[in-house]
Amino acid sequence: MAAIRLTNVQKSYGDHPPVIRRVNLDIGQHEFCVFLGPSGCGKSTLLRMIAGLEDLSEGELHIGGRLVNGVPAAARGVAMVFQSYALFPHMTVFDNMAFGLKLAKQPKDVIDSKVREAARILQLDDYLQRFPKALSGGQRQRVAIGRAIVREPGVFLFDEPLSNLDAALRGQTRVEIARLHQRFANASVVYVTHDQVEAMTLADRIVLLHAGADAERFGSVAQSGAPLELYHHPKSRFVAGFIGSPRMNFIDAVVDSIEPGSVTVTLTRSGERLNAYVDGQRLQSGQPVTLGVRPEHLRLDGDGQFIQCTTVLSERLGEHSYIHADHAAGTLIAKAAGDTPIGSGERIAIHVPPSACHLFDADGIALRRSAFEPERAAA
Ligand SMILES: Nc1ncnc2c1ncn2[C@@H]1O[C@H](COP(=O)(O)OP(=O)(O)OP(=O)(O)O)[C@@H](O)[C@H]1O
Ligand SMILES: [Mg+2]
Repeated sequence: MAAIRLTNVQKSYGDHPPVIRRVNLDIGQHEFCVFLGPSGCGKSTLLRMIAGLEDLSEGELHIGGRLVNGVPAAARGVAMVFQSYALFPHMTVFDNMAFGLKLAKQPKDVIDSKVREAARILQLDDYLQRFPKALSGGQRQRVAIGRAIVREPGVFLFDEPLSNLDAALRGQTRVEIARLHQRFANASVVYVTHDQVEAMTLADRIVLLHAGADAERFGSVAQSGAPLELYHHPKSRFVAGFIGSPRMNFIDAVVDSIEPGSVTVTLTRSGERLNAYVDGQRLQSGQPVTLGVRPEHLRLDGDGQFIQCTTVLSERLGEHSYIHADHAAGTLIAKAAGDTPIGSGERIAIHVPPSACHLFDADGIALRRSAFEPERAAA
């Protein structure tokens, strides 16, 4: 049974167009589900509806098989952790964590053992008598997580819990959250972030929400699936552009010819021809398309098809470099080894493996990528 089920959930404020549109979703027991998307796409709104902090305008919400549309937040068996921590400044760490249990009139010894156990898990043992103002941001966020843990919820809800932390602490706390999830075998996690690294590393499943100019799709699910499914098989140009950093390169093209399992296109600005291993059955020659290829899949050497570019900048990150190169279609980014000796203004051939190419039709819908092995196909 799904721990959380959303059926045709919609949310609108007043007469404005919906900010959440027709969301259908089953989140399993112990699943780590991440709501991902650009700012304003409705991630927090969706999470707050599950928490009971926001009403649904339409649709049904079930938690643990129970319809909870009208059930108040406190009776839903969920615990929420906010970006802002929301700790009580006049209470010690212990009292902050114990607060919900005291409200629920739990016996003192039970409260004591639950708080101490949570403090142990979160390495807060030495801080129980401190006040929040004497804690670092990372420690405060751990207290907020501890306050959720002691309630032993069936569902943990996190809204951007790491965004107030510096990069190192963010990485560390991310690992702690992943380990907490492993530890609580029966709890589901719904986690909101706009950071795709958090989403890729933490999620069993990513639910990517639409945003942008397309009013018809705003607030609907662009794609829901395992992180690598979204990475390798994005359903649309929006998903392809959102997942992956630096983002996928996009080049305008028209369909040239359609072969079994592959499509040849002509790049609109340069006239260069490239082959992509996608299923082009529903295409016609002459049709406009967009070719997409990720920076990490472009090659500066090797055989096969290539496009002509001029380097403009090389970002050296140590282990690897990002080569920015001007092509007739615009600036492309290619990932290269860190010691690649390339300066600016050099004329280079960038290799574009057909197996790495994505193709999107004029509506931004992806063509299915061919299933065959790149090596075999190249032979
Ligand atoms: N009370 C409200 N009244 C009207 N519109 C609202 C209200 N609350 C949120 N919205 C709108 O709903 C949309 C979704 O907001 P939400 O806070 O869920 O976005 P988000 O994806 O969490 O963004 P962020 O990443 O910036 O936190 C936004 O366009 C926002 O302006
Ligand atoms: Mg938000």
